Amino acid sequence: MNEQQSNWTLESWRSKSIQQQPYYPDKSALEAALKSVQEMPPLVHHGEVNTLRTHLAQAANGEAFLLQGGDCAEQFSDCRKSTVESKLKILLQMSLVLTWGARIPVIRMGRMAGQYAKPRSKDTETIDGVELPSYRGDNINSSAPNADERAADPQRLLQAYFHSAATLNYTRALVDGGFADLHHPQHWDLGFVRSSTNRAEYEDIVSRIRDAIDFVESTGVRSTTSLKMVELFCSHEGLLLDYEEAMTEEVRGKWYNLGAHSLWIGDRTRQLNGAHVEYFRGLENPIGIKAGPSMNPSELVELITKLEPANRPGRITIITRLGADIVADSLPPLIKAVSEAGRVATWVCDPMHGNTISTNEGLKTRDYDAVLSELEGAFEVHADCGSHLGGVHFEMTGEDVTECTGGPQELSVADLSRSYETHCDPRLNYSQSLELALRIAQRLQKRRQAAS
Ligand code: PEP
Ligand code: CO
Repeated sequence: MNEQQSNWTLESWRSKSIQQQPYYPDKSALEAALKSVQEMPPLVHHGEVNTLRTHLAQAANGEAFLLQGGDCAEQFSDCRKSTVESKLKILLQMSLVLTWGARIPVIRMGRMAGQYAKPRSKDTETIDGVELPSYRGDNINSSAPNADERAADPQRLLQAYFHSAATLNYTRALVDGGFADLHHPQHWDLGFVRSSTNRAEYEDIVSRIRDAIDFVESTGVRSTTSLKMVELFCSHEGLLLDYEEAMTEEVRGKWYNLGAHSLWIGDRTRQLNGAHVEYFRGLENPIGIKAGPSMNPSELVELITKLEPANRPGRITIITRLGADIVADSLPPLIKAVSEAGRVATWVCDPMHGNTISTNEGLKTRDYDAVLSELEGAFEVHADCGSHLGGVHFEMTGEDVTECTGGPQELSVADLSRSYETHCDPRLNYSQSLELALRIAQRLQKRRQAAS
């Protein structure tokens, strides 16, 4: 047993204090559902998990770049052909744009195939004068506003497993079957470029990508090259520890959560002596830690040291989600503390969760400019500190929803009600996502040129 796993067992988290878990009145029904989940085959292979860790180690050094994105909360009803296709399409297209800018491998990771459980700020909410348990995600209860539907139902754990499996299975089939050809800019919905303020530069980037692909295709090696073959990893917040434990198994003396390639610990469940940190410290999977404005530098160092005493590159990703207003002041001390402690981490910027606001009607939204501003701030801070921004983490969808304001369609607050579909946080839509990818590509291109 190595240092990492000392005093750790699969169940050691159960003796720690735990946040954000549902209450299941019928314990035997819960046990039965968990046993069924545990008996199911894994969703991923441990070899893939190890590969991802190697890729993330490269991202820590600025030799690869992580694109992690998807819904805030997946819903069981999203497990449909068209929804899965459009998620994969935007992720692949963004990754191609980023590869073009960075000229380094882009690691594609969906917030999908298991991103169901949600931390909530309150245990209950009042709808039409009735106080109900909060919706905690499709693997726990239903968003329907009545008491029966809001009760935590253990059968949903099994449902979550099957919906994750179906989503991942179809994603893998699309990737293997050539859907990655949607890389091809001919299939892109580029109407937004025409209305974009940065039109000339974007059209130039897109035509260069098109040329590069045409060139590769003209060499005749297309069908056998990596252009068609893409790697895709899946991730979710490791919130509901009963479920995560059931998906965890020992492979040759090491423990893997085989329900996802990577999981992250949310900003609300990252207590140093809490159950989540205890569970995650025993795993081999690369893990993310969300760091919000309340994270202080010494706490971050303690946290990552506890989670990964052996300091293996690629195991720890720090996902900062500070807010556009404070990133310039709050990020440098975090980077400095980690570097002075000699700790290796892959730094990722989540420019979504620190920039959530509410409209007068009570709709949660985010403004495209704030998202972009936190991202640009993170790039600048890392450049100043001599560290690498190793990736980005977005809440986004391939569909034409209206949940975030601004962007190429210049969506206003009044536009939001047109197609506001999220049951949790607001996501970037197709054109906002692709435009952001173009902006990041420009940044990465500048970074590359400055380094050469
Ligand atoms: C999330 O990623 O949806 C989330 C809840 O993030 P955070 O823990 O950073 O608030
Ligand atoms: Co969210």
